[in-house]
Amino acid sequence: MRRVQPEQLRSHRWYGVKDLRAFGHRSRTKQMGYGPEDYAGKPVIAIVNTWSDINPCHTHFRQRAEEVKRGVWQAGGFPVELPAISLSEPFQKPSTMLYRNLLAMETEELLRSYPIDGAVLMGGCDKTTPGLVMGATSMNLPAIYLPGGPMLKGRWGSTVLGSGSDVWKYWDAKRAGEIGECEWEGIENGIARSPGHCMTMGTASTMTSAAEALGLTLPGAASIPAAFSDHARMATATGRRAVEMVWEDLRLDQILTPTAFDNAIAVVMALGGSTNAAIHLVAMARRAGVELPLIRFDEIARRVPVLANIRPSGQYLMEDFYDAGGLRALMGLLGDRLDQVATTVTGRTLGENLDGARVHDPDVIRDPEHALSDEGGLAVLWGSLAPSGCVVKHTAASPNLLQHTGPAVVFDGYEDLAARIDDDGLQVSEDSVLVLQGAGPLGAPGMPEWGMLPIPRKLLRRGVTDMVRISDARMSGTSYGTCVLHVAPEAHVGGPLALVRDGDPIRLDVPGRRLDLLLDEDELVRRRADWKPRPQPYVRGYGQLFSRHITQADSGCDFDFLAQPGEIPEPAIH
Ligand code: FES
Repeated sequence: MRRVQPEQLRSHRWYGVKDLRAFGHRSRTKQMGYGPEDYAGKPVIAIVNTWSDINPCHTHFRQRAEEVKRGVWQAGGFPVELPAISLSEPFQKPSTMLYRNLLAMETEELLRSYPIDGAVLMGGCDKTTPGLVMGATSMNLPAIYLPGGPMLKGRWGSTVLGSGSDVWKYWDAKRAGEIGECEWEGIENGIARSPGHCMTMGTASTMTSAAEALGLTLPGAASIPAAFSDHARMATATGRRAVEMVWEDLRLDQILTPTAFDNAIAVVMALGGSTNAAIHLVAMARRAGVELPLIRFDEIARRVPVLANIRPSGQYLMEDFYDAGGLRALMGLLGDRLDQVATTVTGRTLGENLDGARVHDPDVIRDPEHALSDEGGLAVLWGSLAPSGCVVKHTAASPNLLQHTGPAVVFDGYEDLAARIDDDGLQVSEDSVLVLQGAGPLGAPGMPEWGMLPIPRKLLRRGVTDMVRISDARMSGTSYGTCVLHVAPEAHVGGPLALVRDGDPIRLDVPGRRLDLLLDEDELVRRRADWKPRPQPYVRGYGQLFSRHITQADSGCDFDFLAQPGEIPEPAIH
């Protein structure tokens, strides 16, 4: 194994040379109270911390950063904490997705512009995992991911509550008049009771698990609840390992290979993970120079059973999953569905990391013979309504709607949806297909999680709990229902979704992997000739950069100028 020498460290250019600039770097480090015994000849480890007062999923990150530092010191490194934008899913509008690429850019440039040899990336809340990994991948230093960990189970009286999923469920119950303000307040008080990200198999748990399957975390790290002392010890071990990775020159391009991405997809499928993975993994792969077409998700889904009995596809929550053996146990059951010789941050193979993994509760982590579903939870569809593809989480959909033809009820953007969905005069039946336009990467903008369109109140009162819903939006990983998402190209750029009108017949055929607008070609040509593009939503600032360079969902919604590897010169130090 190659061993890096102290003079070969990237930080040596800042600290080790005998010139005026290095004098400045050393004297200013001494100004912060550190002596040469702290930094000289040691790997400088960036702790990229997405803590913020407004991110409840990362409340513990101040403390965890200290625990990472302890590990870095223990291993003979020099830790420096670098705060990065915190992408707080519940608060940031219009969507954290608008800012995922900003976090990626910030991460890359922090690592490039400072004297950094290796990095610990601290994330968890939905977009922070892909954002941090995308940026670090583009910089390609030794880097390790520290997943924030799920929060503890929620409770309302004797009822166990899951993030997101139970919000939608009880909101519909409240709209239908089945519960009142008092019950609603009880749910509000009990659904989020500790630090940590959503504890259902939402986007956060999906992406932190995907990071582990990619080989980017210590084994077992992604499943540890944020509040457990195991999590603090894992943080310290992560800091130690970051230092060793620098000496071993173990960089992300050795880990993020095509088979690593196949492993991540297989794990997402076995978890019944969030549809958002079909955007983020594509974006992460492209940063690593790996082509990951949407068809790969469908191919892998067909050979991977759903083993994790976790909401919204299953019954339990992440705390139960951890107690049942966690992600290592689940990956251990996947056998040759995973590339066992993939390299990981430990310097060992994935197979070696899984050695000795055991399932402690076979109802939470099922073996393939007792899988929740024989196929993974995500199907990719194409057709006249989605020429570049779209996705549906069919394990969270109603089986009777997976092949369905019905008339469209069209909403032109979220405002229109909010204004009319509960109108008793809305012409809609349970056979209708609800269509939301203008909710894609550019249209919304930022592709918010509006894809689980609410069931019209008048149908809710009749006991209707699911309908076919189609949009160019995303959907929270904690959501459920027959929701076709990520339709590409989106309506805002003139995709066929923009041409749908009330009453148009739409056919969904999940087994056949098709989504079609059943109109003849002449009518579509006429409508296209009448279609007028809308103005871009932003005329200045980051929003304008986003509007000019964002790619469509099937390409991962990265910026076109960042979506591939490429040499960027090291900064001149003078
Ligand atoms: Fe942060 Fe769900 S709100 S993960």
